[in-house]
Amino acid sequence: MEKKFKRTTVTSALPYANGPVHIGHLAGVYVPADIYVRYLRLKGEEVLFIGGSDEHGVPITLRARKEGCTPQDIVDRYHNLIKKSFEEFGISFDIYSRTTSPVHTETASQFFRTLYDKGEFIEKTSEQYYDEEARQFLADRYITGECPHCHAQGAYGDQCEKCGTSLSPTELINPKSAISGSKPVLRQTKHWYLPLDRHEDWLRHWILDEHKEWRPNVYGQCKSWLDMHLQPRAVSRDLDWGIPVPLDEGAEGKVLYVWFDAPIGYISNTKELLPDSWEKWWKSPDTRLVHFIGKDNIVFHCIVFPAMLKAEGSFILPDNVPANEFLNLEGDKISTSKNWAVWLHEYLADFPGKQDVLRYVLTANAPETKDNDFTWKDFQARNNNELVAIFGNFVNRALVLTWKYFEGKVPAAGALTDYDRATLEEFAGVKESVEHYLDNFRFRDAQKEAMNLARIGNKYLADTEPWKLAKTDPARVATILNIALQLSANLGIAFEPFLPFSAAKLRRMLGMDACEWGLLGSTSLLAEGHQTEKPELLFEKIEDSAIEAQVQKLLDTKKANEAQAQTAAPVAAPIEYADFEKLDLRVGTVLECSRVPKSDKLLQFRIDDGLQQRTIVSGIAKHYQPEELVGRQVCFVANLAPRKLRGILSEGMILSAEAPDGTLSVVSPQRPVQPGSQVK
Ligand code: MF3
Ligand code: ZN
Repeated sequence: MEKKFKRTTVTSALPYANGPVHIGHLAGVYVPADIYVRYLRLKGEEVLFIGGSDEHGVPITLRARKEGCTPQDIVDRYHNLIKKSFEEFGISFDIYSRTTSPVHTETASQFFRTLYDKGEFIEKTSEQYYDEEARQFLADRYITGECPHCHAQGAYGDQCEKCGTSLSPTELINPKSAISGSKPVLRQTKHWYLPLDRHEDWLRHWILDEHKEWRPNVYGQCKSWLDMHLQPRAVSRDLDWGIPVPLDEGAEGKVLYVWFDAPIGYISNTKELLPDSWEKWWKSPDTRLVHFIGKDNIVFHCIVFPAMLKAEGSFILPDNVPANEFLNLEGDKISTSKNWAVWLHEYLADFPGKQDVLRYVLTANAPETKDNDFTWKDFQARNNNELVAIFGNFVNRALVLTWKYFEGKVPAAGALTDYDRATLEEFAGVKESVEHYLDNFRFRDAQKEAMNLARIGNKYLADTEPWKLAKTDPARVATILNIALQLSANLGIAFEPFLPFSAAKLRRMLGMDACEWGLLGSTSLLAEGHQTEKPELLFEKIEDSAIEAQVQKLLDTKKANEAQAQTAAPVAAPIEYADFEKLDLRVGTVLECSRVPKSDKLLQFRIDDGLQQRTIVSGIAKHYQPEELVGRQVCFVANLAPRKLRGILSEGMILSAEAPDGTLSVVSPQRPVQPGSQVK
């Protein structure tokens, strides 16, 4: 049963204000949301587009700590940068606010209070790791230690990235605070939980039965969450950055969990924009709510936030949550910390005025059904072969010819040929399919169809070749150009959601003032005799050198990351001095050294150890020629129990330092010493 809606509230995930935004954000959330909103506006529908920065959470506090400033400094910096990037890319929010706004603090506190007063929370005390040096409780991510399963060092309190196992912080061996490096202690702490288990039944019915039309990736993720059964989720944290838990007792040092307050930000921002009429956008059953998000946000928007809204009792629930998968960059996962990204502000510095090119490419490769890859080669190809060669070329030809033969005035159309009629028919059909795709959040396909309009136009001019008829059949030229101009005008409407800058420029050149979706398909958008402007190019070719520069930038990033990845291994668990004393380390002089036959790794040494001679086999053959070492002094473990290697009894072990790339260098005393000297 199709529900009738009067208006649409569109939200887009609030990005964390702890870094700039990159192409992954744009492709996954903001461009599709913006296309959708612009489309609805063009149709004359009532729509509200809500955005804002997510300014709470632990990562922001850590970043501030690292930079020696306050969390507020961090979010101020990035909120402004992010807001500017969105403006520059034409993301047409009705409001872009932030979760540190007074309206939000008030709204989120009120929301918590309502749930609390209604008995929608449970309280639980549990033991959590506390960093006594940093004097704070530690989020799971900020505790590292040895993985209990694969024994890798540096596993996180929520997961070991080596073997992929989910962990809880108390399972880690030798836990360490990632903040101060100290050993955390367990402390009791009380928190409020939203008992999602109480909501499981209606959520199951609402999603699995009533929203089968949701994207398969979204539906599937929800189903697997529901099948695993829901657990109560804490909605508060021990932290000094966030919205204080609004209770008089037992709430000291506690703030709302960032994932509790952030989605309420959608509501707060609506309130900030429309203090008197916000409610109809959130509470009226004839309002449709749509959340644009990335796939990592699915559970929060499809399960947790709806449960919060339902518990509160006066809000509508989302009608759809078109979540995208991830966009990769040149084959690798986009990563803020590894600087593996194309940052929007850097893109604009390198490609000024080319917002639409990026919008186009990101939509053409939108990760709607699976992860997708952005490559600079593809970026260049789509620009040069599609935007320039098809769209731009068609429009430019139509206008240039109009100026050449008709002083820029729209010529009158005469009798249509069958070919003209077939072209117009094909054209008229595209409108319906673009609409169909947009209505179903299939933006890639929608843009492809819109591009088809340009393709049809381009082909029409190439086939009819009006430039060859100027002398012989001026009336035919007039008809052809009239049709070409009407098609161009259609492009000025059809591309408004996708490429707003170019569509506006095109409409300006055509001197169009009307831009409504309903006009799409019309062949009388431009009246006979209507004056057009002198054409400018809509798109420009992107040269190889510009692309090579971008690829080089990424290669440099890779190199820098590799150098950084080569930081020292974490220090092993502490030992007692008594354990150290058991080691008898000494200096010896190499008397002989040769390769061990049939082994490319092993060298065999004869060492003067000050008391006698001994044989040691060492795995450094790849790093030294045997003759290089004869006469040199080396350090070795003198009391290691002898063992056989390749049939040779090795009486000790030569010490080498291992560089990050695996190169071994034997350790020698800095001045010559008596063989047999102890190393302490
Ligand atoms: N800041 C979150 C992220 O980037 C998204 C928050 S969406 C909201 O993953 F609904 F919580 F606002
Ligand atoms: Zn592991």
